[in-house]
Amino acid sequence: LSIDLKNVAQTLGADSEAGSRLNELWNRVGQLAEDLHLLSHRLHSSTLDYLGIVAALERLCAEFGDRHSIKVSFVAENVLPNLTEEVRLCLFRVAQEALQNVQKHSYANSAEVRVEVQEQKVHLSISDYGTGFDSGNVSKQKGIGIRSIEERVRLVGGQITLHSKPMKGTKIEVWVPINS
Ligand SMILES: Nc1ncnc2c1ncn2[C@@H]1O[C@H](COP(=O)(O)OP(=O)(O)OP(=O)(O)O)[C@@H](O)[C@H]1O
Ligand SMILES: [Mg+2]
Repeated sequence: LSIDLKNVAQTLGADSEAGSRLNELWNRVGQLAEDLHLLSHRLHSSTLDYLGIVAALERLCAEFGDRHSIKVSFVAENVLPNLTEEVRLCLFRVAQEALQNVQKHSYANSAEVRVEVQEQKVHLSISDYGTGFDSGNVSKQKGIGIRSIEERVRLVGGQITLHSKPMKGTKIEVWVPINS
């Protein structure tokens, strides 16, 4: 939004009234982005760092469900060991983006988030029974959500699989080594 505003302001020229109004708006959007950034940092540290990943995911699912009228069930199969800050944040962001996608694209009215430990790895999955899509085509899509999930998971030495077919729902699974 900020870049687009700046471009339009430049096209109109700073001496036109519309151009200078747009410049003002551009400054305010910049300020808003900074505020949001600070706020999201504070939110992240309170839930994730003080309550731990299981409580943070549980809260994310409950809040997401309330906000979007999608019933999100959450299952933590076993007690998770202490995880590094990087791993906690990676898992949390994966769940956030995957749920965002459920809401934006799937038309499902329910979804499931599961987390468990298997063979020294944390296994997180997010599934829905919505419209699904052709998962062979992700690299050709314009969005950056799934690509950023892949990148985050790669950076902590983990793996991701994506199962989706048109009309068959979508499931994203990640495995992240506990001692990554
Ligand atoms: N749960 C889902 N159900 C149906 N389609 C999905 C689901 N998740 C992803 N998709 C499809 O995969 C595409 C790529 O998802 P991705 O998260 O990378 O991008 P986006 O959500 O479109 O944009 P962004 O995440 O950058 O805001 C989506 O545009 C959508 O077509
Ligand atoms: Mg997305």
